[in-house]
Amino acid sequence: MHLEVVGLSKSFPTRRGPILALDGVNLHVESGEFVCVVGASGSGKTTLLRLIAGLEQPSRGSISVDGEPVIGPGADRGVVFQSYTLYPWMTVAENVGFGLKLQGVKRQEREARVDYFLEIVGLERFAKALPKQLSGGMQQRVAIARALAAQPKILLMDEPFGALDVQTKETMQEFLLDLWQRTRTSILMITHDVEEAVFLAQRIYVFTSHPGRVKREIRVDFPSRRDYSLKRTSSFQEVKDEILALLREQKGIPLSDAAPAG
Ligand SMILES: Nc1ncnc2c1ncn2[C@@H]1O[C@H](COP(=O)(O)OP(=O)(O)O)[C@@H](O)[C@H]1O
Ligand SMILES: [Mg+2]
Repeated sequence: MHLEVVGLSKSFPTRRGPILALDGVNLHVESGEFVCVVGASGSGKTTLLRLIAGLEQPSRGSISVDGEPVIGPGADRGVVFQSYTLYPWMTVAENVGFGLKLQGVKRQEREARVDYFLEIVGLERFAKALPKQLSGGMQQRVAIARALAAQPKILLMDEPFGALDVQTKETMQEFLLDLWQRTRTSILMITHDVEEAVFLAQRIYVFTSHPGRVKREIRVDFPSRRDYSLKRTSSFQEVKDEILALLREQKGIPLSDAAPAG
C-alpha cells in the first residue's frame, strides 16, 4: 500500500470570497505505517481526510492509492469519523456487515467476516445489541470494525476519539495500538491532540492553520509496542513539547484566508 498526496490544495467558495483550507500539501503513508496529522482547528484536517476519502474533489494536486488516482469513495479506503455514524435501527452485527452487503458479499462470507472483526474489536458478545445500548467507546469500536470488515488498504480516521471522555479515550488509544500491531493495517489518523499523535504515530505531519500546510514532518522513534508508561518519560515529553512549540509559533500570525483576523 502506498498513499501519495501531491501538491494538494482545496479552496471553498463562500459569500466573502474563497477560503483556502489546504495549500500545497504533500504527504505519504506506506504499508503498515501509522501516521498522524496534527494541527489546530481550522488547519484543514477534516478537509484533507474527506479529500482522501473521495468525498470532496481537490482544487489542485492529486491523491493516489497504489498509483491509482482517487476519484471518489472506494472500498480501498475505510473511514472512521469523530461522531458515531452507526445506523441506530441496525444491530451491531448488521452495522458491521452493511457495507459488505452493499458490495454483494454473500451471506455466509459476510457473517464470517462480521464475527471475525467483532472479535478483533472485542465486541463479539454485543453482536445483537443496538448501538444505543453501547458506550461511546464501544460504538467507535463498532465503527472501526465496520471500516475494517471491508478490508481496506488503509484506515482513515478523523479525530475518532475526540468525543470520548479522557479515561475512555486513553483505553481506546491503547486498543487502537494493539489492533494496529495485530492487523498491521496502514492508518492515517487526524487529531488535534498532540499527546495522542505522539503516543500512536510512527510519523507525524504537523499542520499550520489558515491555510492548512505541512509545517514539519516528525519521525517518532519509540518502539512500536508502547504502553501508557511511555507518556511519562522525558523523551516522550520532548517530542510533545517540540510539536506544541511548532503549533504555538503561528499564534498571532494574521489569517491568510478571506476571513478577517480576529
Ligand atoms: N464546506 C466548506 N465550505 C466553506 N468552508 C469550509 C468548508 N469546509 C471547511 N471549510 C473551511 O476550511 C477550513 C478548514 O476546515 P477543516 O478542514 O474543518 O479544519 P479542521 O478539521 O482542521 O478543523 C476552515 O476555515 C473551514 O471553515
Ligand atoms: Mg476537523
